[in-house]
Amino acid sequence: MRATDLSPRMTGLFDALELRGTEIRNRVMVSPMCQYACEGRDGLATDWHHVHLGSRATGGAGIVMAEATAVEPRGRISPQDLGIWSDEHADALRDTARFISDRGATPAIQLAHAGRKASTRRPSDGGGPIHGEDGWTPVGPTAESYPHDDPLDVERLDQAGIEGVVDSFRAAAERALDAGFEIAEVHGAHGYLLHSFYSPVSNGREDDWGGDFAGRTRLVREVTRAVREVWPDEKPVFVRLSATDWMGEDGWTVDDTAELAPLLAEDGADLVDVSAGGVHPDQSVPESGPHYQVPYAERVTEALSDTDCAVGAVGKITTPEGADEVVRNGRADVAILAREHLRDPYFTLHAAEELGEEGPVPRAYRRGF
Ligand SMILES: Cc1cc2nc3c(=O)[nH]c(=O)nc-3n(C[C@H](O)[C@H](O)[C@H](O)COP(=O)(O)O)c2cc1C
Repeated sequence: MRATDLSPRMTGLFDALELRGTEIRNRVMVSPMCQYACEGRDGLATDWHHVHLGSRATGGAGIVMAEATAVEPRGRISPQDLGIWSDEHADALRDTARFISDRGATPAIQLAHAGRKASTRRPSDGGGPIHGEDGWTPVGPTAESYPHDDPLDVERLDQAGIEGVVDSFRAAAERALDAGFEIAEVHGAHGYLLHSFYSPVSNGREDDWGGDFAGRTRLVREVTRAVREVWPDEKPVFVRLSATDWMGEDGWTVDDTAELAPLLAEDGADLVDVSAGGVHPDQSVPESGPHYQVPYAERVTEALSDTDCAVGAVGKITTPEGADEVVRNGRADVAILAREHLRDPYFTLHAAEELGEEGPVPRAYRRGF
């Protein structure tokens, strides 16, 4: 049952969270955010990633999550995306994971495959598909392209191709662990490969990987199980979902998400990160004011009430009071902030001051707080 009492005994933003054997110092998470910063480095992390993620750990967040990191080269959204398809990629991330950990934050990484939304120019270069030799052929549940104005041909994954994707996620998780990350998040949202399989909008397959709910959700579940298989018992696995396609009853709905979340918990997920949308440009976002996606997280919290699986809420959470309210009233266990962390890497330290809590101020910065 959801609590509405704001008494100080309730769990707040600055209470630690234990997931499996991992203690997370507070309930603020830096949402994964593509930096499109692998300039000519073919998926290898750069100083930019190190400083970007490192400064947000210095800024006090409980969890600092690296951006959508491609499990194979064709799973990149853009050529400048981070990747983790070789040991060299893991080596390039190692110092960053260690630095985040040394600052007392929990280092996390989002493992991703862009599916039919791959091979696009980064937003600062205008977005849109890359044709010709600078791009590549995206893969998807069917040969249907993502409906860009100027779409790329898409390769339909066959049985071997799908098994290869599951193997790529498993191998990526092994490398992420070796690099020092403590949380692996499976990117199952925003119209990318795993979402494009579970959404009826994009999966018109008629074999065991499509059709009904069980067929369409099979890939995200198998990937979650594969990651859990290689991720240590004492470390958490997260799964990010799009709670709704915003495409009406013909699309994936919040009811579907409420049915899937407990199945993912059985598969080994320790937190469901509740986002939305991205599978089709015709999506109609009903209302996008502050906290507009939090009701989806609340619904998933209810669906998971008989499990140990936690929930993260994301979407226009920008203030300390707002983030604290989400946690304190049991709408979600973790407040996930993206753009606010672009504006303020020290959001958590500022939030602690504002809420009258003790924040994790680094020793060298104490005279400033
Ligand atoms: C620059 C930028 C990059 C993003 N990259 C990712 C990503 O790599 N993976 C992901 O799941 N979401 C990504 N997102 C979505 C955010 O994680 C978040 O879900 C969204 O921005 C809503 O949260 P906000 O209102 O706090 O910004 C990105 C958002 C921004 C602004």
